[in-house]
Amino acid sequence: MVTFRVLAVFAFSAVACAQDLGVPTSWREFSNKYSLADRQAKAKAAIDVIAPKTTSDGEFQDVGYWGSAATVYSAMANYDHFVKTTAYKSTVVNGLNKVFGEFAHFDQFGYNDDALWWATASYYAYRAYGDTNLLQHAIDTWNAVLPYQITSAQASSGSTPVKNYAIKGSCSGVTNAGAVFWRPTTGDDNMNSVTTGLFLTLSAYLAKQTGQSQYTNAAIAASNWIRNANTNANNIVLDTIHAKDCSRSASSWLFTYNSGKYIEGTNVLASVTGDSSWTTKMIQVAAAAMKNGPWQGSNGVITEGASPNVANDGVYFKSSYVRALNEVFMTTNNAALGTLIHSYLVVQYNAILELAANGSTYSSAWAGPPQGYTGWGQAAALDNLVSAITSTT
Ligand SMILES: *[C@@H]1O[C@H](CO)[C@@H](O)[C@H](O)[C@H]1NC(C)=O
Repeated sequence: MVTFRVLAVFAFSAVACAQDLGVPTSWREFSNKYSLADRQAKAKAAIDVIAPKTTSDGEFQDVGYWGSAATVYSAMANYDHFVKTTAYKSTVVNGLNKVFGEFAHFDQFGYNDDALWWATASYYAYRAYGDTNLLQHAIDTWNAVLPYQITSAQASSGSTPVKNYAIKGSCSGVTNAGAVFWRPTTGDDNMNSVTTGLFLTLSAYLAKQTGQSQYTNAAIAASNWIRNANTNANNIVLDTIHAKDCSRSASSWLFTYNSGKYIEGTNVLASVTGDSSWTTKMIQVAAAAMKNGPWQGSNGVITEGASPNVANDGVYFKSSYVRALNEVFMTTNNAALGTLIHSYLVVQYNAILELAANGSTYSSAWAGPPQGYTGWGQAAALDNLVSAITSTT
């Protein structure tokens, strides 16, 4: 659930050069200056500032429900996974178990995307710690969300048992099979990229983990829907299509996490299926996002979701996008793509350290200026710092 979005008017002219993987020379400081030990220490210091600031219901103060899973718990688990430690194991395992116990399949407020952020954090935690309870939380949540993914039969018939109205089986000639509804509520008709991209990513990880075709098939359908139905002509992923009438979110609603979750999930899907056409599509979106996304200026520093004074969920979008690119960096055998991602993530890392840091605390405005501690700014910074452990070598 995104309760409030930072919307800006973007003066942006897209240049269609999706396959050009060269590093723009206009980017700010795209070479790494820090040793591995330094990068590990900076990430840990930032996590250690926010780790004690828990709430009684398993969240982090001033971070909110989905943000706590999407940023803090995910980054803690990935820190331990990358550094091969268990520094945050008890915090992560206890927190995820507590919240799973409090809210059936992680859905506190009636939003599938909330549930999927927590389930994805559970998968990362399983990857880090091998605790099969955490994998089961992810699987249980996947099973709870599955009915909200439109099947081919439902698209053909124009109806789904989970909605109380006739759905459009296709929009602009492209099927809605594979789309995942944002909310379980029977009357709600938002099919959006973040929910579908989260389901794609979780499905792909579960396919990789279990080898079961139900997960692969769900991931394929979700990836196809985002790419074919909800991506603009410049290969940037769009936000929402309404199932009642095919109306769309404004074309200016371009957010990092929509492209990010598509990139992360489709990259895993490519490895699960061994089908390189998924990689080709993923690279188109990744290159467009890094080089032509409206969320950065010509210096490459992400400016989306800068909210110095007011808690705002929009600050977390860029965290999952940065993490997605790091996941691709760790697995790609495309040298040019690896160099581009490396350079882009170094730009973000140098920016946050030089423009947004105040000791080990960070502003949600990665282009600066620094400020005093905020829970949301700190939470949003963690993926930038943790990704730098593996991506800025
Ligand atoms: C750094 O953080 C401290 C403590 O929150 C705050 O008092 C100070 O103003 C901050 N410095 C800058 C440059 O923002």
